Amino acid sequence: MALERTFSIVKPDAVAKNHIGAIYHRFESAGLRIVAAKMLHLSREQAEGFYGEHKERPFFNALVSFMTSGPVMVQVLEGEDAVRKNREIMGATNPKDAAAGTLRGDYAASIDENAVHGSDAAASAAREIAFFFTDAELCARTR
Ligand code: PPS
Repeated sequence: MALERTFSIVKPDAVAKNHIGAIYHRFESAGLRIVAAKMLHLSREQAEGFYGEHKERPFFNALVSFMTSGPVMVQVLEGEDAVRKNREIMGATNPKDAAAGTLRGDYAASIDENAVHGSDAAASAAREIAFFFTDAELCARTR
């Protein structure tokens, strides 16, 4: 299978609890390579734009407030079947339903503070990567 890229966020709750390294370790252990990364404190405008497709949902304001409550790590993961693999590593959206050993099963406290985001399809991955990174910021594997 060809290499694929996906987009990921370590959310404010997981950054505040000092879980960045543990989460990156899970990505790398699963064979995903981090090819771009940065720490950001999202503005309200950025969070509303990123989650624009959910703006009619009842939790939209809570989601935007949470995502702007502290710094996040945004990263691009590359590997075979990266979109599906990252969703598998993350576990179910609601940590109550997430298996132990998944990121949300191990690090998330609730559905509204659920540790990580990951693109749900190749098309959304491309859109989300372009939202945060220029082409020049994506590092190709060199060796
Ligand atoms: S998913 O994983 O995209 O299929 O989940 P979905 O149910 O469509 O939810 C979209 C994003 O909204 C977050 N979410 C919530 N935030 C706050 N409160 C509640 N109740 C809630 N329910 C869902 C969910 O974590 C998704 O965010 P991301 O960043 O994509 O994980």
